[in-house]
Amino acid sequence: NQLEMELEAIEKGGYEHFMLKEINEQPRSIADCMRGRLDAQNGRLVLGGLRDYMNKFQNADRIIITACGTSWHAGLVAEYLFEEFARIPVEVEYASEFRYRNPVLSDKDFIIAISQSGETADTLAAIELAKSKGATIFGVCNVVGSSIPRTTHAGSYTHAGPEIGVASTKAFTAQISVLTMMALKLGYKRGTLPENRYMQLLSELETIPSKVERALKMNDKIHEIAKEYKDARNFLYLGRGYNFPVALEGALKLKEISYIHAEGYPAAEMKHGPIALIDEEMPVVFIATKDSSYEKVVSNIQEVKARKGKIIAVVTEGDTVVKNMADHVIEIPATEEAFVPLISVIPLQQLSYHIAVMRGCNVDQPRNLAKSVTVE
Ligand code: G6P
Repeated sequence: NQLEMELEAIEKGGYEHFMLKEINEQPRSIADCMRGRLDAQNGRLVLGGLRDYMNKFQNADRIIITACGTSWHAGLVAEYLFEEFARIPVEVEYASEFRYRNPVLSDKDFIIAISQSGETADTLAAIELAKSKGATIFGVCNVVGSSIPRTTHAGSYTHAGPEIGVASTKAFTAQISVLTMMALKLGYKRGTLPENRYMQLLSELETIPSKVERALKMNDKIHEIAKEYKDARNFLYLGRGYNFPVALEGALKLKEISYIHAEGYPAAEMKHGPIALIDEEMPVVFIATKDSSYEKVVSNIQEVKARKGKIIAVVTEGDTVVKNMADHVIEIPATEEAFVPLISVIPLQQLSYHIAVMRGCNVDQPRNLAKSVTVE
């Protein structure tokens, strides 16, 4: 009815869809996530939920991250973060596999369960299982008071605010923000991250919201790119290192809301299969930011170009090498390599959004999907 429609329009805050609103909210949702926790100037980083469990965390033999969907992708980013900064081995598990596998677990394991809704049935069951084996469970959730935060020993909320669009956007960047803060704190406490480097990273982390704001400005350009590829039947997303999980997430976003078949792959694995798919019909999205794997990604781009694939590349502002090779480039601000996913995922969210709208899809409520999956 009229009143409901008006209420919804107000909730959408002038945006056509919740997803677009939530994509654009990210500078603020990331800042909200860090507010009261990160104070770079004074070298302070406090995660209230972690305080009582810091000892366990520091002395863990292993960190096991369990989640589903987009939250699982955030977990993959965290694997790189924890191993780089804290030097603790990490495993990232689909909750649905973990819970049925009779996994080897002990009280020396520190489990991190990631969930936007806090209600995902498989993630909840994985937590129960790990708990019964004596492991410590830490939740990274968005919905306050949901089931997962009530089941875990401790946790940190992502504070991204309500996410209505079924395809997760701002919850993902908030999850990564929390996990980044956890990894930095842990690295510092364990002495694997020297103080001066720690301070540097804290300062850079504080600049992320404004860099995300800048990345969002590529929207018009991405809209143009979307026009050109909206009728593609397949898409490939490739990235390496910290951008490998981002490639997976970019592909998932496109699948979820536009129903175009998309695959995310570590760029180096392309030669073991996906390269066979490449022809002039195949758009390939590369995340090719200036980082330690840049040169290698550039040679992967050359391989795709040689087979006439269409190249859409997310690059660091000022890049010229990839610009000369790609059909389209999307520039994002430079940051620390470990923080790149927070920025590089933004254009991929925008790309999938525009393509889905142009194809007439129901962006906020894609067919067959649910915001929280409370059945297994
Ligand atoms: C559903 C949603 C996804 C989400 C996944 C995990 O499939 O559609 O967007 O990533 O569940 O949900 P959670 O609430 O546990 O993060």
